[in-house]
Amino acid sequence: MRRHFVFLVILGLLIMTGEGYAVESCLKCHGTKEKLSGLIKKAPAKTGDELVTFLRTKSPKKALHNGVTDDQIRQAFSELGKK
Ligand code: HEC
Repeated sequence: MRRHFVFLVILGLLIMTGEGYAVESCLKCHGTKEKLSGLIKKAPAKTGDELVTFLRTKSPKKALHNGVTDDQIRQAFSELGKK
């Protein structure tokens, strides 16, 4: 029983640390969450989906974002964008 408990705690920690992953993929280029948050807030997007559309079609920087997925953009918005 005790072993099971330890196992579950470790599993929980792994899941929690995995949550920041989407934003990490942006930080390779954007450096810090603060900087990225500033860019997301300045972008003309009120929802995660609008941010995807903007970065895919309207942004002059769209070519740079071919390497990230729509889900990563949405997650970054929900973590760092305006609520
Ligand atoms: C391959 C490098 C790279 C990756 C990965 C990347 N970006 Fe960018 N992004 C840039 C560069 C370079 C700019 C423009 C420079 C700046 O203003 O800092 C930019 C600009 C932006 C802008 C402003 C665009 C505009 O036209 O106003 C937003 C919003 C943005 N990125 C969001 C994201 C999000 C969210 C992710 C992760 C899902 C991400 N980026 C991943 C390189 C990248």
